[in-house]
Amino acid sequence: KMNTCNHLRHVESMATLPSGAGKISHLNSVILGEDLASEENDLVFPSNHFSSQALVSSPEKYLEMYKRSIEDPAGFWSDIASTFYWKHQWNQPVFSENLDVTKGTINIEWFKGGITNICYNALDRNIDAGNGSKIALYWEGNEPDVDASLSYSQLLDKVCQLANYLKDIDVKKGDAVIIYLPMLMELPIAMLACARIGAVHSVVFAGFSAESLSQRIVDCKPKAVITCNAVRRGPKVINLKEIVDAALVESTKNGVSVDVCLTYENQSAMKREATKWQEGRDVWWQDIIPTYPTTCEVEWVDAEDPLFLLYTSGSTGKPKGVLHTTGGYMVYTATTFKYAFDYKPSDIYWCTADCGWITGHSYVTYGPLLNGASVIIFEGAPNYPDSGRCWDIVDKYKVTIFYTAPTLVRSLMRDGDEYVTRCSRKSLRVLGSVGEPINPSAWRWFFNVVGDSRCPISDTWWQTETGGFMITPLPGAWPQKPGSATFPFFGVLPVIVDEKGTEIEGECSGYLCVKNSWPGAFRTLYGDHERYETTYFKPFPGYYFSGDGCSRDKDGYHWLTGRVDDVINVSGHRIGTAEVESALVSHPKCAEAAVVGVEHEVKGQGIYAFVTLVEGVPYSEELRKELIVAVRKQIGAFAAPDKIHWAPGLPKTRSGKIMRRILRKIASKQLDELGDTSTLADPSVVDQLIELSDC
Ligand code: PRX
Repeated sequence: KMNTCNHLRHVESMATLPSGAGKISHLNSVILGEDLASEENDLVFPSNHFSSQALVSSPEKYLEMYKRSIEDPAGFWSDIASTFYWKHQWNQPVFSENLDVTKGTINIEWFKGGITNICYNALDRNIDAGNGSKIALYWEGNEPDVDASLSYSQLLDKVCQLANYLKDIDVKKGDAVIIYLPMLMELPIAMLACARIGAVHSVVFAGFSAESLSQRIVDCKPKAVITCNAVRRGPKVINLKEIVDAALVESTKNGVSVDVCLTYENQSAMKREATKWQEGRDVWWQDIIPTYPTTCEVEWVDAEDPLFLLYTSGSTGKPKGVLHTTGGYMVYTATTFKYAFDYKPSDIYWCTADCGWITGHSYVTYGPLLNGASVIIFEGAPNYPDSGRCWDIVDKYKVTIFYTAPTLVRSLMRDGDEYVTRCSRKSLRVLGSVGEPINPSAWRWFFNVVGDSRCPISDTWWQTETGGFMITPLPGAWPQKPGSATFPFFGVLPVIVDEKGTEIEGECSGYLCVKNSWPGAFRTLYGDHERYETTYFKPFPGYYFSGDGCSRDKDGYHWLTGRVDDVINVSGHRIGTAEVESALVSHPKCAEAAVVGVEHEVKGQGIYAFVTLVEGVPYSEELRKELIVAVRKQIGAFAAPDKIHWAPGLPKTRSGKIMRRILRKIASKQLDELGDTSTLADPSVVDQLIELSDC
């Protein structure tokens, strides 16, 4: 139905890369690594050994599968979906391929009418296949000698006990449950327990402040909040229960009270005696959950019933509740996990992401467990007790697939190779990167030093909204280029458009959009379908707009260039500039604030805030600190500005619009690139800002 010819021609031409064609046809005979990248086209080839055993072993194989996925999405995805357990078959694999908002509302559905359960598919199905005693979760505590593990059967028992309790407190299909937990095994257990009974989980990253947590509680009105009393991160103890208590008080003021706060006693961080308690509302996990039966009937749900809500930042101050449904998400996360990491049942997989973000949802919990994988969960910090902790863990568990964010790669790279090389790491097979563009020098360090020039890197581009990988290498299929996410995953038709929304062919730069529907796509923004359509489908009618810039090189490789909207990516965490601004102006002495992202050596982007104070208030170091505290309090420590730049005024157009372009240039000290400032209402503010740069 779709005009895919151009794209397929394009993909075909990729398979015979003009400059690399000779090398690709010798994919199995050219091994980069010792003499890796060929300078002329910077290609890094998978080894002969790797490719010969890979699920997708050549560009030709990829092309064959990719072609089918685009020409016959219903058939392609139905075949894969059939490998899962469905109580009833779906009516039609895909409904509404319309992504053109001018032609009607956007209503994406996959496998509608299919009745299934993702928890059943992740646990019971794998146990039935004989994997009951295989380890599902290895848990590594903050302290190196504290660990635990659960087999698939043991995990199912724990999930069922919690699911039974949730049912007992009247959590029903479709009810929301907020989970505010650090990386304990109880976090995936809680997600799976909700899924088992058809409840909608909303995990809130346990680094968010009480105010952010409360905002989410008020939005989704959960039946219960699941948390723990405290967590240790490196040498620090964080009292999470206190944050939840404050959030619950705040929510009640806003008309939403939560009856149950199930609290796990994280004994290594804090004893229960030291925990503040509200009788009648608070319940100790350890006191109640083990008393429940270890079997629990599955709530069978429609493929399009909601699975979870995950709040993410957009260009306004209000976080968006991204809603994912069950069937398509299940099929998509499992399939992307399998192919992008070339998953084998013998793999030991570690993703360093927290389940509070989408990466933890799709690639700590659901994708790997659906594949029956053994997954590592790490409570602590990567530089505790020292910067070699990650590689100690790799050796301890014989990790084969290691998936992380460029910010971690860069910070460990800065700490020196010795921390890496003191460990063997010989178990490693595949590396992965996510969250922001990985700069070529970090890519090379990751590849050469961490992976001993042996392990392909899957640089996976995707988003909270996409549910799973969209553009990613398939290790074994393609030669890689350091810093490029390479080519689309099966079933994804990415396009690059210009300002007018016209697709650009060949070598180009522009806005990254997607032209078709894929099973893992989010279906709406909770309670605001209009915002969903306006944000993602109106900017370029006919396409899903990602918010990212992208270029495509002569060989068809994709290079993500960062957000083109008011969202910044700090250490792989997505933060809306408007959220930080609103936190800053909540301080009574702050009159106005404008926040921009600025390049940061380790974090990728840092937060740079221009702040105008209320008339007559002097600048002071104390006030600077207070402003930073205001942001930590409203959003969380991870959103604290790196720099506060005092601004007597902000550069505005005559109609009052802040010219962020100019602020970005000032923040990055590119003063000779300020461009035309004559359209400003008061051009002299620019000079004042430059003068105050170093204050
Ligand atoms: O800008 C892109 C960047 O992260 C954004 C999505 O953020 P979030 O929804 O929090 O999900 C992060 C984990 C999937 C994107 O719009 N991004 C993510 N992965 C990459 C990336 N940028 C470049 N390369 C990537 N591999």
